[in-house]
Amino acid sequence: MKLDKKQIKFLEEKSYLEIINSSKVDNLKEIKRKYLGKEGIISQFLHELKNPENVEKRKELGNLINLWKKSLSKKIEELEEEQKKKNIEQNLLNEKIDIAWEGKKLPLTYAHPINYTIQKIFTIFLPLGYQIVETPEIETDENNFSKLNMPLGHPARDMHDTFYFSSKLLLRTHTSGTQIHVLKKNPNQELKVITAGKVYRRDEDDVTHTHQFTQLEGFVVGKDISLADLKGTLELLLHQLFGSNHPLRFRPSYFPFTEPSLEVDAQCLHCQGKGCNICKKTGWVEVLGAGLIHPQVLKNCGYDSEIYSGFAFGAGIERLLMIQYGIEDIRHFYLNDWRFLQQFRLL
Ligand code: DAH
Repeated sequence: MKLDKKQIKFLEEKSYLEIINSSKVDNLKEIKRKYLGKEGIISQFLHELKNPENVEKRKELGNLINLWKKSLSKKIEELEEEQKKKNIEQNLLNEKIDIAWEGKKLPLTYAHPINYTIQKIFTIFLPLGYQIVETPEIETDENNFSKLNMPLGHPARDMHDTFYFSSKLLLRTHTSGTQIHVLKKNPNQELKVITAGKVYRRDEDDVTHTHQFTQLEGFVVGKDISLADLKGTLELLLHQLFGSNHPLRFRPSYFPFTEPSLEVDAQCLHCQGKGCNICKKTGWVEVLGAGLIHPQVLKNCGYDSEIYSGFAFGAGIERLLMIQYGIEDIRHFYLNDWRFLQQFRLL
């Protein structure tokens, strides 16, 4: 590079032309580096000027170069600003939203059949003075088993074997532990409670079993509560669900936390009792378990079992729905398949 006025002027003009013709930000950066960068043309000139042999030229040319440097920096800055603005405008244009466009239509959804059924059952019990209660799905061994007359090693635990967090904490295997929660908190009080929620069992998943399902539990504690009260309550519930006067059958059974215990069958809704695959040719399907609360359970919760008695019942919500609608595979409830769910929209 020749260090003289003509050469500097020539390069100055050239630099202005280059930036004016640069249309893209990247070009501008390139030009900036070329002229103004650390090792750019202008730096080289200024470096050269420091050379002792250029002492005379220093003042005049130094001034010239500095003016060029200033003016080029300013022009580049202005252009950069302009390009930025243009970019923003372009982006805004690209992202323009037409608010008059019709949105994507999502199908209107309905309550899931399980939730719908829970709500329906709650509305049967609320006018009878029951309170709705919710207790945790992570439960203590004591509430889930021991206080319900299933001490460690009790054979009835085998049917419930579940997911343990520790020796004392587990995913509840049934909603009957809600009885313990509520009774412990209110010893010697009369009460009517209804609850529903998820329960967990270490079952292999198949058409009638899943590791998680939903249970309903109701219980009443008071003075002189008898099997007749229980029977009347269950008839009311099941007749609301399956139709008034639907034939029911009460059978003796066994649960560690009720005495006496019973199970209720409903006449098969699909063959009207004639016998089919759904009822395994018996004409009846089992719908729930129930009984009078075992006096020991009441005592475990601080109740005086000489004065107080109670009844309790528990049912699987999915099971009730399967019986009612002839659903052959419990897993349908959890797949969220719209074709399955929409069949319940008129429930
Ligand atoms: N907890 C029982 C189960 O999961 C169902 C049950 C039976 C609940 C009898 C009750 C009852 O309240 O009285 O198999």
